[in-house]
Amino acid sequence: MTLNKTLDGFSVAWSSPSNIAIVKYWGKLPGQIPASPSVSMTLDQCRTNTEMAIQKGPFSVDFSFEGNQEVKFSERIKRYLTELSSRMPWINDYSFVIKSENSFPHSAGIASSASAFSALALCLTSIQNQITPLSELAFYKEASLLARLGSGSACRSIYPGFAAWGQDETNETFSDHYATPIKHDSRLSKLVDTIIVISQKEKRVSSSKGHSLMTNHPYAEARFLQARHSFRDSIQAIANGNIDLFNDITISEGLTLHSLMLSSTPPFMLFEPETVTIINLLLALKSRNETPFTFTLDAGPNIHLIYDESDSSYMNENVIFKIKNLFPGILFINDKMGGGPTFLGERLT
Ligand code: PMV
Repeated sequence: MTLNKTLDGFSVAWSSPSNIAIVKYWGKLPGQIPASPSVSMTLDQCRTNTEMAIQKGPFSVDFSFEGNQEVKFSERIKRYLTELSSRMPWINDYSFVIKSENSFPHSAGIASSASAFSALALCLTSIQNQITPLSELAFYKEASLLARLGSGSACRSIYPGFAAWGQDETNETFSDHYATPIKHDSRLSKLVDTIIVISQKEKRVSSSKGHSLMTNHPYAEARFLQARHSFRDSIQAIANGNIDLFNDITISEGLTLHSLMLSSTPPFMLFEPETVTIINLLLALKSRNETPFTFTLDAGPNIHLIYDESDSSYMNENVIFKIKNLFPGILFINDKMGGGPTFLGERLT
């Protein structure tokens, strides 16, 4: 195969979903290595569609997001590709035209970097696959590893259902370098995620800043220990269909994430007033022990309400209805557990 001839004019497109962490990744070591292991549920509707086209020529990146040139993200992609060129030297000999679009608000605390970097990583792996064909298993493992180097949590979006990322001394299956799909009981196969979008504004403090504040965090050691327990317990709960344990871990992890932000030096808070009101309402409903749901937050003010599809009417009438009454203008995104990324096609022009 004459490599350059084969790749000149090659283009590939993938659609990749976001994911919501059940056990949170918060704190990292150099090289995008997580300080503690995490578990997530892959979403279905919140996705990034990315097309990557390459032409022989000096390395350059032309990135557009929803038809507009995005200078900030374009610079981040340029740095990402430059870093990856030590692993994939062909990158240095190509110019990249990348077009991307999201199905949900950008930077709204719905992990947009997870869907963005997983879609980019899948495109890159497809190109790499032209050079060195990979087995299906190796393809997704490589895509997950490349996604991680762009944005840690992105490595989990490569897989459908639930995925785990981060080494655990009690189980050799898991790695710091890529995510691994994990089995779930049929009782967790129809989970819905109703995202309460409290704000679509850009986050006040980026995730990378938040991760860095864990380095000298007064509760770092206790947190990483807690995360390891949550990790093991959640994997068991997901495999055995232990909904109560799954629900408890999910709430605890979402609130712990924000309590770590509040206790950072300097402290920061990503809650909006509506977030606090809704959390209080949800905790009051949970304490009555009659509503079968859980909830969590990502690094932002929005709340993910997670429950079984069969409880949708109950949730609409008893929980979502109350939130709509309190805040009539609030946007809801109806998502659910998803089947992972989809290949949109490739061609040579
Ligand atoms: O992948 P990053 O670097 O954007 O960090 C994401 C961190 C959280 O979304 C808050 C938690 C997680 O595990 O997804």
